Amino acid sequence: MSTSTTLYGGAAHRRVTILDLRAAKERGEKWAMLTSYEQMTAAIFDEAGIPVLLVGDSAGNNFLGEENTIPVTVDELIPLTRAVVRGSKRALVVADLPFGSYESSPEQALATSTRFFKEAGAMAVKLEGAHVATVEKLTAAGIPVMGHLGLTPQSLHQLGGYRVQGRTDGDAILEAAVALEKAGAFAIVLELVPADLASRISKALTVPTIGIGAGSDCDAQVLVWTDMAGLTANPPKLAKAYRNLRRELLDAAQEFAVEVRNGKFPTERETFH
Ligand code: KIV
Repeated sequence: MSTSTTLYGGAAHRRVTILDLRAAKERGEKWAMLTSYEQMTAAIFDEAGIPVLLVGDSAGNNFLGEENTIPVTVDELIPLTRAVVRGSKRALVVADLPFGSYESSPEQALATSTRFFKEAGAMAVKLEGAHVATVEKLTAAGIPVMGHLGLTPQSLHQLGGYRVQGRTDGDAILEAAVALEKAGAFAIVLELVPADLASRISKALTVPTIGIGAGSDCDAQVLVWTDMAGLTANPPKLAKAYRNLRRELLDAAQEFAVEVRNGKFPTERETFH
């Protein structure tokens, strides 16, 4: 078990591990996870002390121009994961298994996860739903697995939209979480579930829960980085924008265009003789 006293300080000179996350839960220390899809944000969030970076399939609607996460492929996420691994020094980098790349069988999930480990350097994978046998298979093969329950965006059409889950069938989500933990999952994302249900699940598990739209009792919280930074045009209610990067970038691009039109850029400073 890790000897660190805080997650942020203790693992400053090496990568955060799943043991550090378990120890943080035992200490009652909360932590933050962010998505990242390329090297720049990976380096910045790593420097900020974010201990876990998720190369989410939310890259679909936040990076690749898709409407949702469903079209995202393994071949698209592998180079993004490699960039996040290369851009970071201490964060645990988790790769999302895209829709269609793991549901058929534990063997399919192992083959896909192996690609993320070998070709991208991922340190863990995340998968949506109660695929208990798959989690057993992956963890037995040495691949740490993060679960994801509640609103699972890859099942968008089956669920009938982005709706709060577990208002009437909360016990089923609790049971799935317990089964995933028993199968070896090292953490579980709880998305868009009532706060009291997330609280019950967090108390029932020894591994950390990571909430998104799941109230404040989860052991950790995750945000899609573009929502967190205020880049997203219409952010979901579950998100909080800590800056308005959309405004900043818009202003910067407009100022650049105006200066080029007016002959104010480049100046002597940016000119070579
Ligand atoms: O893909 C993603 O970004 C996610 C998080 C919202 C947990 O799954």
